[in-house]
Amino acid sequence: MPGGVLGFGMAEPQEGPRTRPATSTSAQWRPGSWRDRPAQQLPIWPDANAAMAASSVLAGLPPLVFAGEARSLTEALGTVAAGHSFVLQAGDCAESFAEQGADSIRDKLKVILQMAVVLTYASGVPVVKIGRIAGQYAKPRSSPVERIGNVEMPAFRGHIVNDDAPVPAARVPDPTRMITAYHHAASSLNLLRAFTKGGFADLSQVHAWNQEFVATSAEGRRYEAIAEEIDRALRFMRACGVDLSAKAPIQQVDFYTSHEALLLDYEEALTRRDSLTGDWYDCSAHMLWIGERTRDLEGAHVEFLSGVHNPIGVKLGPTATAEEVLELCERLNPARIPGRLTLVCRMGVSKVTTLLPPIIRAVTDAGHPVVWQCDPMHGNTFTSEGGRKTRHFDDVLGEIRGFFAVHRAEGSWPGGVHVELTGDDVTECLGGVEDILEEQLPLRYTTTCDPRLNARQAIDLAFRVGELLRA
Ligand code: PEP
Ligand code: CO
Repeated sequence: MPGGVLGFGMAEPQEGPRTRPATSTSAQWRPGSWRDRPAQQLPIWPDANAAMAASSVLAGLPPLVFAGEARSLTEALGTVAAGHSFVLQAGDCAESFAEQGADSIRDKLKVILQMAVVLTYASGVPVVKIGRIAGQYAKPRSSPVERIGNVEMPAFRGHIVNDDAPVPAARVPDPTRMITAYHHAASSLNLLRAFTKGGFADLSQVHAWNQEFVATSAEGRRYEAIAEEIDRALRFMRACGVDLSAKAPIQQVDFYTSHEALLLDYEEALTRRDSLTGDWYDCSAHMLWIGERTRDLEGAHVEFLSGVHNPIGVKLGPTATAEEVLELCERLNPARIPGRLTLVCRMGVSKVTTLLPPIIRAVTDAGHPVVWQCDPMHGNTFTSEGGRKTRHFDDVLGEIRGFFAVHRAEGSWPGGVHVELTGDDVTECLGGVEDILEEQLPLRYTTTCDPRLNARQAIDLAFRVGELLRA
């Protein structure tokens, strides 16, 4: 977690008189002003009073993150926007209430730390680390219903809304799940803070992050070689008399949390005014993003995130036009604060090189200091013959290569990647060094939503991205 101790005093959960203009262009912004806008992808709670009751319980609970931490992340992302560092954002597509044990969180963190080491080592560029973790519980869906066998039922919308069990009763939206989500997020965050600040993330532990099923693979051995080099460098520094125990950057890691700000009832209830600056922050995570399906300029999600001061992202799929993106930049970052806005491009491997250049030109010409990030997962999803959603490792890598090529040609900085992964040995994405085939998908397919890279595929990807960064 971030070391910054600024802004620990989060104040009133209810709004009060504004002392400074928010980032929003709208003077009308309030934590609840999104309610006056058209909203996509929100559940219809069967009992509106129960939803209000859950919101007021949440509004009385402590913030999960602090404003000063969110500001530190904006600053770190500002260095990415300026081309001096790289951002790795990674984690689950949909975190599950059923999988919140220490092992699952630790193993995801291990993979992210390993990827960051590989990227840093390969490129010499600092890596900002953000998890899709401790709050990634709400999912947008292409269809509001799903057919399982002969039964049609409401779609699964993430554990913060309903259950994924394939029976209609489980799919009824239940607002008390928002309170459960808060408590899961709090305990995950607590463990992450302990892991990242309490010794587990110490660089001298770099070997311990290599899980056994990874260590025996080609990617794992390549990682071990880097770990050995890092060990040697640390031994060298100690031998030279450097006291590494006094060096926070060696012993601890700044690790931030993020999720899609989809379920606005939940996000509103966790939005608090910072007592230091008077600004509003969504204290459910350090960074929040707007999904591809909810980036409507006049819609509720853009309205809500326009007024909170966290660093935010917007997903840009293949239908995004340069005009729309410019307007999003104006609405979401009118003050042009570097690091405030990340554009998460997820065009698909076949489209990235044609669709991205006009968008980059428009944003650059307008002088918006954005972070350009590539999500190589969501534009490359397809359904296998066996009926499982999957992605091919080659398409994932291919979109990243296209993203880098476009930025090199435009003279802009390919600032980061955004990937879905797990620390487990799953078989959800095809290909990779071990070449997972379609018939192997059912072996260990455990995601409740999109297919994730397994730990070996994720580390393999980090090596490839490291090579692109160095080129
Ligand atoms: C996601 O990140 O899981 C997601 C649903 O992405 P997108 O909004 O880009 O489709
Ligand atoms: Co996803």
